[in-house]
Order: sequence, then C-alpha cells, then structure tokens
Amino acid sequence: MRKKTNYFDYLFRDPLTGFPRHHTPRKIFNLLLNQIAKLFGLTYVLGMPIHMNIEVNNTCDLRCPMCSSGQKYSRRKRGLMSYENFTKIVDEVSPYLYKIGPFNLGEPLLHKDIFKMIRYAQAKNVAVIVSTNGNAMDAVKAEQLVDAGLEELIISMDAATEHTYQQNRPGGNFEQLLKNIRTLMGIRAKKKSRFPFVIINMILMDNNIVEMDEFVKLAKTLGVDKYNFSTYWEMYLGDSVKEKHTGKLKPKSEEYKNIMPSVMRVDNRCSWAWSGCIISWDGTVIPCCFDYNETYRLGNVFEGGIRKIWNNERYRGLRHLIRQGRLNPPLCRNCPRVF
Ligand SMILES: C[S@@+](CC[C@H](N)C(=O)[O-])C[C@H]1O[C@@H](n2cnc3c(N)ncnc32)[C@H](O)[C@@H]1O
Ligand code: SF4
Repeated sequence: MRKKTNYFDYLFRDPLTGFPRHHTPRKIFNLLLNQIAKLFGLTYVLGMPIHMNIEVNNTCDLRCPMCSSGQKYSRRKRGLMSYENFTKIVDEVSPYLYKIGPFNLGEPLLHKDIFKMIRYAQAKNVAVIVSTNGNAMDAVKAEQLVDAGLEELIISMDAATEHTYQQNRPGGNFEQLLKNIRTLMGIRAKKKSRFPFVIINMILMDNNIVEMDEFVKLAKTLGVDKYNFSTYWEMYLGDSVKEKHTGKLKPKSEEYKNIMPSVMRVDNRCSWAWSGCIISWDGTVIPCCFDYNETYRLGNVFEGGIRKIWNNERYRGLRHLIRQGRLNPPLCRNCPRVF
C-alpha cells in the first residue's frame, strides 16, 4: 500500500525505519530495559517511555462524525498546553524518547506555538510526527512545518471526493485542503528538504470504502510520499457507556472483511502500557488514545514528572490486568488491534 519510489529514500525518511537517526547509547540501553519488561510481562518497567503523544490542545475546527472530540462526546474540558509545560515534559523524556506526536484529540495546527514545540523536540533528538486535518495549513504554516524540521506529517482526509469529504470531515474544505497539500509539497521541494515525510490517510468507513482506488490515484496526483488506510475504532467513553453511534459508520461490505487484515495490525500483545503513554493538555497521563474520557488517569505529569507515574500502583495494576488477559481492562475491549 506504499507508493514505491526510491526504496532507500523511503527507509531513510520513514521515522520508524529511520530510527537509527535518533539512537544514542542511553536510548538503546533504555529500549533494552523496556523490551525486557515487556517480554517478561514485568509490571515494573525500568526503562522510561520510548514514544509519547503530548496533546497540545483538544480544540478543533472540524466535527468529524467518528471522533469524540469533533462530536463532543468526551466530557473533558477543552484547553491548551503552554509551550513552557511542553518543554518541561520534553526535557524529562527526550534522553529516552524516539518519537513524539504533539496531538491526541484535537487539531494541533491550531496551537499558536506548535512550530516552536516541534523545533524544540526535534532539536532534542526526538522525531516529531504530526497528524492534522490540514485545513489550517496555509502557505505560511506549511513553510513553518518544513523549517521546524518536522519528520512526518499525516494528513487525515478520509475521502477521495468532495461529497464524501463533507460527510466525514464536516467543517472542512476539500478543495482548499488539496491546495494546501500541493503548496506544502511545493515548499518542501523548493527548500530541497527531505522532511516532513507526507502521508495522506483514510479511515475506512461505510461511505468511503468504494473510494480506495481513487484515493491511491489522488496520492499520486498530489505527489505525497505515501497513502495509508486505517481502521475505524469504536469509541470507549467509560465503563458503563457502550458504543453510542459508531455502528453505522463501520464498513459493512464483504469486501471490508477481506481488506481488513491487511490494514489492521494484529497485535494481541499490546505494548503501549510498557512503551509509551498519552499526556493530555492539562498534564493528565492516560495509557492510550482510546481513553477518550480519561477513565484510567495514572497521574499528572506536572506533579513530579513522568518517572513518578510510570511505575506507580495504578500503572502497575493496569499492566498486571493486561498481562492476565489482553481484554481484561474494559478500555481495551474496543481496541481495533484485537480481533
Ligand atoms: C483525533 S485526530 C487528531 C489529529 C487531527 N485533528 C487529525 O484529524 O488528524 C488523530 C487521528 O485519529 C483518527 N481518528 C479519529 N477518530 C477515529 C476513529 N473513531 N477511528 C479511527 N481513527 C480515528 C483521525 O482520523 C486522525 O488520523
Ligand atoms: S479534525 Fe481530528 S480532532 Fe478534529 S474532529 Fe476531526 S478527527 Fe477529531
């Protein structure tokens, strides 16, 4: 499903295979500790997190039907993380961390300091990966993204046509988005920059599955580095709240059943609780991005740092539950990475 350009170029640009760029002896040692804990299912993890999403804001300009932020299903307060607080977190974790996604449930390009934040983390030898709806990415912001040294940009489109885009990304402007992507690719070429590696993404839903071929063609005409299809997640909104509206968005076609295994990573040994976490804009630490309502609050990073939380009783309890059975924590039951 990847655009086959120069293979080595691809390996170098991709932040995952390009990990060696960010290796240091300390990071490698930490990674080893981390992997040992995961392998043996230890609840106490000596290694610090190796990846992290830091939600710089949970505000958004769109109302996507599949998203708890866009649909306001989440009970969480809206807000922004300050640049100073972002740097405090990065200062603590950057000696160990390979990747930061400065987003969770919100549109990161709406944060006025996002470019400074990207630059700061990149300068600390951490790969930054941004996911955006791309609507706010005008020429000025596109240039700032390139100049900040961003390594990967995922542009969430979820459609190959205007009609479907309006259904899946209400509030957005399809034509403007295409223009923004072309502008970004032009700026990157003009600056002769290898980064960001640009991916357009489509979550497969009932109304866009017929547009897969067209999406592939669109990626070619836009000149992006890669297109990606991802699976749709059911929303977990708390132990007692079951799926609310999400069933109708899920692809029903027979075709999807055949496509799904190639799109979805089958990972019944979740590593998130051992390898990374999410930090919300107000500092709340949660185990993964499926916890829309922060039902598994593990602590607040601004009260003593991540090290204090990483092996606290609650975190160890969660690891213990997962180790006992992948679907033990109610949060994990809607995870798309489990069949
Ligand atoms: C919540 S968004 C935040 C970043 C940015 N606003 C965006 O749209 O890319 C992060 C990613 O989650 C995806 N997403 C949101 N709700 C989803 C769902 N129910 N199932 C699968 N992916 C979802 C979005 O498409 C996007 O790729
Ligand atoms: S743009 Fe991103 S954060 Fe905003 S509603 Fe859509 S998926 Fe959610």
